[in-house]
Amino acid sequence: MRTTRRALAAVVSVAALLLTSACGTGEDDSTAAKVEVFTWWAEGGEKAGLDALVNRFTTACPGQEFTSGAVPGGAGINAKQVLNARLAQNDPPDVFQVHAGAELLDHIDSGQIKDLTAEFSSWGLTGTLPEGLIETITVNGKLWSVPIGVHRANVVWTNDQVLAESGILTAPRTMKDFIANLTRLRRDGVESPLALGRDWTQLMLLEAVLISELGPKRFTGLFTGTTKWDGKAVRSAIEDYATILGFSNADRDSLDWPEAERLLIDGKAGYQLMGDWAAADLEANNFSGYDSFTFPGNGKAFQWLADSFALTTGAANAAGGTCWLQTVASPEGQQAFNAQKGSIPARTDAPTTGFSDYQLEAAEDWKSGVAVPSCAHGSACSQPWQNAANAALGAYSASGDPAALQSALAAAAKQFVRQG
Ligand code: BGC
Repeated sequence: MRTTRRALAAVVSVAALLLTSACGTGEDDSTAAKVEVFTWWAEGGEKAGLDALVNRFTTACPGQEFTSGAVPGGAGINAKQVLNARLAQNDPPDVFQVHAGAELLDHIDSGQIKDLTAEFSSWGLTGTLPEGLIETITVNGKLWSVPIGVHRANVVWTNDQVLAESGILTAPRTMKDFIANLTRLRRDGVESPLALGRDWTQLMLLEAVLISELGPKRFTGLFTGTTKWDGKAVRSAIEDYATILGFSNADRDSLDWPEAERLLIDGKAGYQLMGDWAAADLEANNFSGYDSFTFPGNGKAFQWLADSFALTTGAANAAGGTCWLQTVASPEGQQAFNAQKGSIPARTDAPTTGFSDYQLEAAEDWKSGVAVPSCAHGSACSQPWQNAANAALGAYSASGDPAALQSALAAAAKQFVRQG
């Protein structure tokens, strides 16, 4: 099992305290122009990351005051709905959090966000972001959002004590081993060995199983139209998914990811599949008895997603919003944010001071692994596609009907895939 324990706990909690108070009260300068930054980062490791960035912004952008438009809910499940309603009513925030990649498409099509191509070169981003990332966020030859950090989605987090009590001391390498471990935990009295949450967390789990079943290239093809959703390979992945789902908590559909993580922390589960923002959150919850490993059978696949920020065309304070983006683009902003958030900087030249062992390893894996995108986190599919996939998974969780799941996923792909 690869080690993730780190000395971050103290750093996270002390910095979170300092920064919360610094940002919470701010300078309270009534003459400052307010910049509304819309995110879904409201607590734990997510808020610690945002607070660190706000702190940089306050220094770098005098005369501007951060105001938070945070709407909590993992993966932006609630925030995106509120944002879309506000954009439709012409009440946009100045800047908003969005996943780099296909999730941007509808905002671009609707003319809701500004073209940032010129800023990318003046802020030194063109030569310092990985080429693949630049390619993903280039639409119609232009650049639309500033990436701050890259997370990995296909990671399983453990409660080592729960596993050790069942004699499980190593990470499972294959799906078969994983299922054997889940069976063993249940036999030993852990009723729900796999902690799981609502729809989008279930989509993450299915995506991880699909990567194992199809391999990185064919998995990616599911979102570009070259791999069939209604074929045998997807059917067989759904069978494995069904087996694994059977080891999860029955109340999964009512839990967000931190609540599912609580089951892990409290020793009610042995495993949780979750993106690597979980590490900062486990530490923020003072839990250090965990390890992590890549989802069994995923090999060197690094399922990536990138948090980024876009400037709205209707921004009331475009200058302030631009200064926020410049802070996001800066190596210092990227270091400050990522050290708390648990992601790795999008810029390859950002310092890694204060990073955990896990993050340093993730940065290496990002360089040497095989990049695959995520639909649950917007790098692979558009928002309507993501909504349809989440709905299909939510429905399956209640019905258990594999044929209905496969045909709903195939129908979503047919409706939303954009070739080329
Ligand atoms: C975001 C992360 C966030 C996670 C859970 C992901 O979609 O990219 O920044 O921590 O959702 O809310």
